[in-house]
Amino acid sequence: MENWQSRFAFLMAAIGSAVGLGNIWRFPYVCYKNGGGAFLIPYFVALFTVGIPLLIAEYSVGSIFRKSSPIAMRKISKKVEWVGWWGVFSAFFISIYYCTLMAWCLCYLFHSFGLIWQPDAGNFFFNKFLGITSSPSIIGKINIQILFALLFIWTSIFLILYKGVKSIGKVVAITVPLPTILLLILTIRGLTLPGSSTGLEFYLSPDFSKLAMPSVWLSAYAQIFFSLSLAQGIMIVYASFLKKGSDITNNAFITALADGGTAFMAGFAVFSVLGYLAYQTGLPMNEIARGGIGLAFITYPTAISKMPFMPSFFGIIFFLALLTFGIDSAFSMVEAITNGIKDKFNISREKATFIICLIGFLIGIILTGGGGIYWIEITDHFISNFALVFIGLLECLIFGYIFGGEKIRKYANEVSEIKIGRWWKFMLKIFSPIALISIAFASLIELLTEGYENYPSWSLGVGTFIQTFPELSVKK
Ligand code: PHE
Repeated sequence: MENWQSRFAFLMAAIGSAVGLGNIWRFPYVCYKNGGGAFLIPYFVALFTVGIPLLIAEYSVGSIFRKSSPIAMRKISKKVEWVGWWGVFSAFFISIYYCTLMAWCLCYLFHSFGLIWQPDAGNFFFNKFLGITSSPSIIGKINIQILFALLFIWTSIFLILYKGVKSIGKVVAITVPLPTILLLILTIRGLTLPGSSTGLEFYLSPDFSKLAMPSVWLSAYAQIFFSLSLAQGIMIVYASFLKKGSDITNNAFITALADGGTAFMAGFAVFSVLGYLAYQTGLPMNEIARGGIGLAFITYPTAISKMPFMPSFFGIIFFLALLTFGIDSAFSMVEAITNGIKDKFNISREKATFIICLIGFLIGIILTGGGGIYWIEITDHFISNFALVFIGLLECLIFGYIFGGEKIRKYANEVSEIKIGRWWKFMLKIFSPIALISIAFASLIELLTEGYENYPSWSLGVGTFIQTFPELSVKK
């Protein structure tokens, strides 16, 4: 039976999974779009009503059954094993594009030395670096540089995972604190640049009227889900390696607050620099601020090349931070599925890890072509907006009703430093399912209405893509 070498190792691994690319390029953007400082209210409400309760449930189920998610589900009831598989397969699909994004970061880490994206970072990214095709159905030329970077990422994941949780524990002891320090450096750099206060004002100035909009609340719940790596068997498999009697509740609070705190801090690093860019270019903030891929590979690099002092250094720090933030999220996704396969088919950890990493890499090759970026957007859109919310909903029902919320609460209270009251059961059994159903429903309506506009009906995600990259629709 494998075990974490310490509580610290488990906590770092869980925080490492939660804190990832989503904290850096998703949270700040989602926050400013949904009311700035006022968004913190729905965000924290979502954290406490769904995020932490479900995290406590996942940690408990993992440590009670000491098995990966599909097998733990089977032990709860044979009829729900598929929910576990759905979760770990979602994680696997996310890992495929997540690793491609990280391969891009690795390439950009090297590009930072010469700041070679200058003078037009957008043109460099889309045309020179990606060689973007005109449609997702055209794969385009495989970019050898990205291909090697991808091979490097998948090989690293294999080497980290195949030996087991002890080696994961050693890696996360570095890959969690290091990017946090790098982010702190970037934040301090950002805050000392002229114009940074304009950026921060834009990020945080509260617009309380937004709180009346349901879509703002939906964004908060979706962000919490993605960010805490819930519903994919990741936290279940990590908790399955806990020694018997390990704390649950306090660990869940620490993980969740560390995740939220990092996201909040990333906002300062990102928006201070965007404020500087606005100051340098004279453009208004709302033309500069954007999230997602464009932020990391176009806007931020543009701002970096305009920095007065050692721009390459800050470029390197930024991409190194993304890589180290991302790697522990990426391998946590792979760990969820390999353990499922290992438990199900009774094969060794090495073999399961090798097979999954190989398949992940091979599918990922398609994404290294010029059409890859479209598929990344499409997969991300569907998995994070739909699959995770549905699986999360099913998990609440399975844990709350089939397995028994009271059983989980009793277990968690027996082993934990903090005791949870009846509120927790209410959140898991009643509040969360209702909130998640509303999210799913509203997202579906949004998708359907989006579908009636001018996007190809077979790939609605492309719609989001074009919204995120307005310059693409101009150029192409
Ligand atoms: N939580 C990670 C992030 O914020 C992403 C992630 C999603 C990790 C799903 C694991 C599973 O970037």
